[in-house]
Amino acid sequence: MSNLATVITGASSGIGEQLAKQLAAQEQQALVLVARRADKLQALAEQLKQAHPIRVEVISLDLEQVGAAQQLVKSVQDLGLEIDTLINNAGFGVNDLFTDMPLERIQGMMQLNMVALTELCHAVLPAMRQRKQGRIMNIASVAAFQSCPRFAAYAATKAYVLSLSEALANEEKANGIKITAVCPGATATAFHDVAGNNGSFFTKMMDSAEDVAASAIKSLNAGKPVIVTGAMNKPLPFFNRLLPRQCVVWIAGKLAAT
Ligand SMILES: NC(=O)c1ccc[n+]([C@@H]2O[C@H](COP(=O)([O-])OP(=O)(O)OC[C@H]3O[C@@H](n4cnc5c(N)ncnc54)[C@H](OP(=O)(O)O)[C@@H]3O)[C@@H](O)[C@H]2O)c1
Repeated sequence: MSNLATVITGASSGIGEQLAKQLAAQEQQALVLVARRADKLQALAEQLKQAHPIRVEVISLDLEQVGAAQQLVKSVQDLGLEIDTLINNAGFGVNDLFTDMPLERIQGMMQLNMVALTELCHAVLPAMRQRKQGRIMNIASVAAFQSCPRFAAYAATKAYVLSLSEALANEEKANGIKITAVCPGATATAFHDVAGNNGSFFTKMMDSAEDVAASAIKSLNAGKPVIVTGAMNKPLPFFNRLLPRQCVVWIAGKLAAT
């Protein structure tokens, strides 16, 4: 039996949970579910194992901690598994003025959304190159395409994820490795409770996490470097290029107002 595994960060809710459910139904690879809430992960793992003949492991970890990515890679190795598919989905945003946010919250966001993601990509790519096979899905956001007042640091982290992923997809294509940046628009998950974003315009038209996950998996398997999910969101990058930058930033700020 193969020891290749799919690691999904942020699998305890929202898009990550949906990715786990859909991959468990579609593929035979072992799943490793990662997040802080062990009880949620355990419940999901039990559900998936009952429904499908696959191995499901749980690793409870705070990816905002320095060194957590290295710890995750070691924990997966200790399970006797090799990462064939890495899904960097864990992330959060905060809807607030930059100066009103505690610095520790911004640092935690940068550590989770960018640093841990980068360290995990860097850790898994050499073995994927050797096998001439591997997949990486990095969850960015439509916020990656422009600055966004009230989500200033969050949008900047997602711009980083998009930029990194597109470059890596180009570098690794010849090595048989598929890398996709997924850019969801507003999606009905706990993200908006965590972010304090429930009054903003973004939450008036939300996609389902099921649809976002399905679109993300399809695009990863098709080897698309970037996917904007949701019919309403797809034209956004195009219109952003037509309008003056300050105009785009102004609109984004208006839409984020709570
Ligand atoms: N929902 C949207 O509108 C939207 C739009 C664009 C992009 N996104 C992106 O989609 C991704 C998934 O978010 P979601 O919408 O599914 O929100 P969600 O339901 O809040 O899920 C976030 C996941 O990340 C995990 N997580 C948060 N902090 C963590 C930490 N320090 N260490 C480990 N895991 C952590 C959470 O698990 P624990 O709390 O158990 O740790 C949870 O499983 C994020 O990267 C987000 O930026 C979301």
